[in-house]
Amino acid sequence: MNTAPRKHVGWASRWTFILAATGSAVGLGNIWKFPYITGEYGGGAFVLVYLLCIAIIGLPVLIAEILLGRQGRSNPVDAMLGIARASDASRLWVIIGIMGAITGLLIMSFYSVVGGWILDYMAEAAKGSFSGQDAGSISAYFKNSLLPDQKLQFAWHSLFALITISVVAAGVVNGIGMAARILMPLLALLMLVLLAYSARYGAFAEAARFLFAADFSKLSGTAVLVAMGHAFFTLSLGMGAIMVYGSYMPDKASIAGTAITIAVLDTVIAMIAGLVIFPLVFAHGISPAAGPGLMFESLPLAFNDMPFSAVFATVFFVLVAIAALSSAISLLEPAVAWMDEHIDIGRPWATGIVGLLVWGGGVACIYVDQLFGWLDFLTTNILLPLGGLLMAIFVGWKMKRKLAKNQLAGLSYHQFNLWYAVLRVFTPIGILLVFAHSIGLL
Ligand code: PHE
Repeated sequence: MNTAPRKHVGWASRWTFILAATGSAVGLGNIWKFPYITGEYGGGAFVLVYLLCIAIIGLPVLIAEILLGRQGRSNPVDAMLGIARASDASRLWVIIGIMGAITGLLIMSFYSVVGGWILDYMAEAAKGSFSGQDAGSISAYFKNSLLPDQKLQFAWHSLFALITISVVAAGVVNGIGMAARILMPLLALLMLVLLAYSARYGAFAEAARFLFAADFSKLSGTAVLVAMGHAFFTLSLGMGAIMVYGSYMPDKASIAGTAITIAVLDTVIAMIAGLVIFPLVFAHGISPAAGPGLMFESLPLAFNDMPFSAVFATVFFVLVAIAALSSAISLLEPAVAWMDEHIDIGRPWATGIVGLLVWGGGVACIYVDQLFGWLDFLTTNILLPLGGLLMAIFVGWKMKRKLAKNQLAGLSYHQFNLWYAVLRVFTPIGILLVFAHSIGLL
């Protein structure tokens, strides 16, 4: 086994990095997950905590994770080993890389199942199945047709996993970047069209009140934990995806500026998704707390009475599938990059092995009761924040300050110190407080 990674190619430009990282960040987390957990945990106060977590915890860790990647210039495991060595820190910090790669595979297991749901909706939309349906029959389709049909889910999950594996096997650099350059803006555009529809025909005022008027009496300890976990999930943070992408980033590009761009784009897309879905939810008497089916039971309603509804709906679900794909790719990348750089079997085989594992994980999520929710909870709310906590402590306290400073050369003296102080103190304390609060210690 090599200790030094054999090959590591770079991105063409800073923009390629922004595209790939935004492609990783923007996905089912924004369009599927954010609305339904917001619905489950009561709206406004939850959204506010989530936004605070993005700003105080997510953004500083995002900067730290990109910086680790670019400093390490290799897969997360070797990056951590190398930087720990260069900083005279313990080799045990490699745990960040190992835990992250495993977390990615666990997330992909359930993510691919939801990716499969999207593919199914794409096919149904193309057949025109949603046209002219009322809320009752659309929600019945999800609850009574798709969910109970394990074979159907199995088939779609397998297809989604296979597409992801193929793209990863081909290599990230020439994989998805180009497609994302055109398709992601198109997705944003279609969401704006849907937003206009929801604003015009949905219960928009009620939805806006639900999303933005904070009622703290609704905020449980679990809600705070879920809000923080989602800040990590939606930014693809704490498991090495951003680190591995950062490792391909050109030296001169500004890490902090890039991180802010990614966080803003990701947050805006999530807010738009909420403002599209909740007006439909309230206008059609769907329960905001409908759970993972929320988007699937509400969104098709928007397409109903639009002109060319089947075409529009199909294009929309194709784009969501691509957004999901560009996130899924990054879930596999840390594990694949590590294998590829260590075991001489070539990237396609490395991807195949990793792919088989996550495919099996997805099958288990379909057939084993509760596994889906349990994996989601473990990875999103525990493992990602834990990874982020370790990254914050490592970069803030263990890594040589000079290394961090060099990576963030574009920042002024005060900007750097602000980020450094937040990362060293506020971020770790914030994460620990949320953990403690969620288990009833506070
Ligand atoms: N951020 C992605 C989304 O919102 C999911 C993801 C999580 C991707 C963690 C990579 C790592 O859909």
